[in-house]
Formats: sequence, C-alpha cells, structure tokens
Amino acid sequence: MTWNFQEIQEGMQKEVAALATEEQLEAFRVKFLGRKGVIAEIYDSLANLSKEEKPVVGKKANELRAEINRLLEIKKQEIKEKKVLGEPLDVTIPGVVSPVGHKHILTQTIDEICGLFESMGFIVREGPEIETEFNNFAALNIPLDHPSRDAFDTFYLQESDPEHDGRYLLLRSHTSPGQIRIMKEHKPPLAVVIPGKVYRPDAVDASHSFMFHQIEGLLVDQEVKFSDLKGLLTVFCKKLFGEDIKMRFRPHFFPFTEPSAEVDISCYICQAKGCSVCGRKGWLEIMGCGMVHPKVFEAVGYAKGKYTGLAFGLGVERIAMLKYGIQDIRLFFENDFRFLKQF
Ligand code: PHE
Repeated sequence: MTWNFQEIQEGMQKEVAALATEEQLEAFRVKFLGRKGVIAEIYDSLANLSKEEKPVVGKKANELRAEINRLLEIKKQEIKEKKVLGEPLDVTIPGVVSPVGHKHILTQTIDEICGLFESMGFIVREGPEIETEFNNFAALNIPLDHPSRDAFDTFYLQESDPEHDGRYLLLRSHTSPGQIRIMKEHKPPLAVVIPGKVYRPDAVDASHSFMFHQIEGLLVDQEVKFSDLKGLLTVFCKKLFGEDIKMRFRPHFFPFTEPSAEVDISCYICQAKGCSVCGRKGWLEIMGCGMVHPKVFEAVGYAKGKYTGLAFGLGVERIAMLKYGIQDIRLFFENDFRFLKQF
C-alpha cells in the first residue's frame, strides 16, 4: 500500500484547526498517534515495503508524527487559555483576606509618650544611631576616663569620626547626643523629645538587651527652673500612669545635668505595698533627669549664662514593661505573634 502523505497532512491540519475541547483533542490524538492510529498503521506497513521504499516512507512518517505532536501542543495551550479566560467571574466568592498588621507595642508606647509631650508644646526629632564620640560623650561633659566610655560599655565602630581626628564613631549608648545635635542647629527657646534606639554591650537577660529604646527630652529657654522640671514630669507621669500615681525625685548624678535626679513612681502593681516587681520597695525607677549642665551649653556654643534648661531620659521598654506587666524584655524582640497580638 502506498501513502499519500500530502493528503494525510492536509486532512490532519484541517482537523486540528477545528478542535475546540479537551475531549476532541484527545480523540484526535488517539486517531493519529494511538496504538491503532494512522502513524502506527504507516509503521506497520513498512514491513511490506521494498528495501528502497522503506527508509523514504519511514522518514516521512517520522516527520508527520513530529508535526502532529507540534500542532497538538499548540492546540492544547490554546484550549487551556480559552478555558481560563472564558470562565465567568463569580463576584460572590469570598476574596483572599490578607492579614492587617498593627504597630509594635514599643512603637505604640513611643507614640503615646511623644504624643503626651507634643500636647505640651514639644516637637519630635530623631537623630542617627551612629554617633561621634564627641556628641555621645565629650559634649555631654562625660570625661575620657568615665567608665561608660569603656569598650565594655559602648560599641565602637572601626571608622574614625571625620570631624574629630583620631576619635571613633560608635553606636550611641543613650539618646542624649540628640540634645547636642538639636542645640548645635537651633537657638532657644527649644522644647523637643527625641525617641530612638540605643546600644550597649550588655549580656541579654530578662531585663537587659544590647539594643533598647530611649526617649530624650530637652527644654531650653531663659529662666527654666527645677520646678518646671518637676511640674512637667509630674503631669507626664500622671497622664501615662494615672492620676493616683505618686512620684519622688531622688538625687542622683549625671555628668550632663546639675542638679540631677532619678524619678520613681509608686508601684501601682502592689499600690506601693511592696512586691517582686518593685523589689519590695514600693517604688519603681522610671527615668533620669536634671538641669542642663553649663558645660553642655558651652560645648554647643551657647553664650555663657544666657540660658537654662531641663533634660530627661527614659527607657521605653521599661515603661512598657511596667505599664503592661511584661516580665521579660526579650519578648519585645522575638517576633512571637502570640505576644505581639495582645497589644
Ligand atoms: N542619658 C541618661 C541615661 O541614659 C538619661 C538622662 C537623660 C539623664 C537626660 C538626665 C538627663 O541614663
């Protein structure tokens, strides 16, 4: 038997063109490529052909099979695409709900605290986490031999400070260098709060972390008094912890303020009776503060004796832990949704 390949090819092409469903596609495949299909029939007939004819017909059959496969693949894709595009859109199917996050509890606490000071006329500014030795220490009247300047208490970076030859850059160990930056740029009157991350090479445990957050406060004008500091921080604490809270200013030392104090609030967990959180003292230490030291004004180039100011600094984690009864500082940074979702 001889095969008219041209005729078979033309017929096949017409059939492919008319295919519209997956079922028709399959029927076509069986008809041409199936075990009893056209191609198989041609191969079977090779046995009866002469030596000369065999390779010629065999080659044509191979080519035809390749062509059928090619067209089948194209058609298959076409039908698949049509199916997708052709499907009617059901607008009543519920959509995919993507979970909506919220601010981290520390960000919420920072926002709340800064908001309270903003309501009292302060502005919010931020400073860089990489600081100069000058801003972090020298300008704040912290002498070269002060223990906090030790490499055990501050992360120093390799690069030296371009403005001050030989001095190193470091990760700020408190937000107080923010005071220096603001005062170098602006003249009083000034009222600013500076939130941000600070770094200290402390071993991590339930109450220590190598990174935590502080909020610095600075108010500079003519005739700012210690009573202003007391009044301001009293209003702040009452707004944050409730009207019934009691406060005390305990004398303390900071090189950049004089006089200096630490602020305690009465432990509201035990109503100042004494519990494990306040170490049975009835008081909780929440911030450092004081009147800006004249040496600091001198370092930023303010005229001698012209201004007075108050400054304070508080730890955000500590406030949040007290406010929400959180026992372990590490919880803030572990990204455990079961913890974060509660706030
Ligand atoms: N910088 C101090 C600290 O980190 C806190 C402080 C700020 C104290 C401003 C007084 C005035 O402990």
